[in-house]
Amino acid sequence: MKLEWEQEGDAPSGVGSEIGSQLSLVADCCAVAEGLPCACAVHVLITDDARIRAVNREQRGIDRETDVLSFPTVAYAAGRTARSSRALLRREYDPELSACFLGDVLISAQRAAAQAEAFGHSLNRELCYLLTHAIFHLLGYDHLRPEDQREMRTMEEKALGMAGVTREGETHAAPTDEQLLALAREAMQRSYSPYSHFRVGACLLCGDGRVYQGCNVENASFGLTNCAERTAVFKAISEGAREFTAIAIAADHAAPWPCGACRQVLNEFAPGIRVLVTWEGDRCEDATLEQLLPHGFGPKDLP
Ligand code: THU
Repeated sequence: MKLEWEQEGDAPSGVGSEIGSQLSLVADCCAVAEGLPCACAVHVLITDDARIRAVNREQRGIDRETDVLSFPTVAYAAGRTARSSRALLRREYDPELSACFLGDVLISAQRAAAQAEAFGHSLNRELCYLLTHAIFHLLGYDHLRPEDQREMRTMEEKALGMAGVTREGETHAAPTDEQLLALAREAMQRSYSPYSHFRVGACLLCGDGRVYQGCNVENASFGLTNCAERTAVFKAISEGAREFTAIAIAADHAAPWPCGACRQVLNEFAPGIRVLVTWEGDRCEDATLEQLLPHGFGPKDLP
């Protein structure tokens, strides 16, 4: 998912610095939970009570603040959601954006902060929850009837669980191999590869079930390019994660087995890690790092 987000007004205290990557991961987990048939994009504005009230009044004739508003651009047929609207999404695909634009989301940071306090969880968790709720609206879900509400709630829990955004003390199942591969494909959509046009995405699974995504980041000074796998590993390490059990890597047309440099970097932290690759949408293979880097040199070889 391409998530473009911006913030206006004063940021309330308590927004963690990692909010950007959390929101992007949550959006990808919504896409994977739904099984989106093509690349999609969403715009998010984190704003304040005054602005959300004005928009609520102008667009919906309701003159009061609210926590979140979503404005879908895709008109799904009755009873359908994005996954059962393949042809419609394909028609809405914007080649300039390389994605199908699903709509806009507005979140009141002030309301989110108040709700986070009332629920006793972090502001980041509340922002993730509100974004998830809004994205499922953009995907065609609503909560008018109790059975629809249950279905929407189930999808929200699935996405938030996959992202590791849970309530205090609540555990979540680690993403499955299929979900890791799908999260790598989502990360691939953010590849910065204007020189090679070889898009790569990665999704690294930690021992505690958390995931970190990465894409390749190229540079006009070609040698400075960073591979998707190392982007994911460096993000994870810099956030304090140290134990990794699997990495999924996605590319468009060729099996993206990690390059020698990435094998060596993975070997530093996880010599036994499983490596899963996917290309051409659904082709997959896997290997262990020991198979990919036999007799590797690593921390074990230094005194
Ligand atoms: N690339 C990766 O991201 N991972 C690999 O393991 C191999 C190569 C990227 C780097 C560059 O942006 C593009 O693919 C072509 O080499």
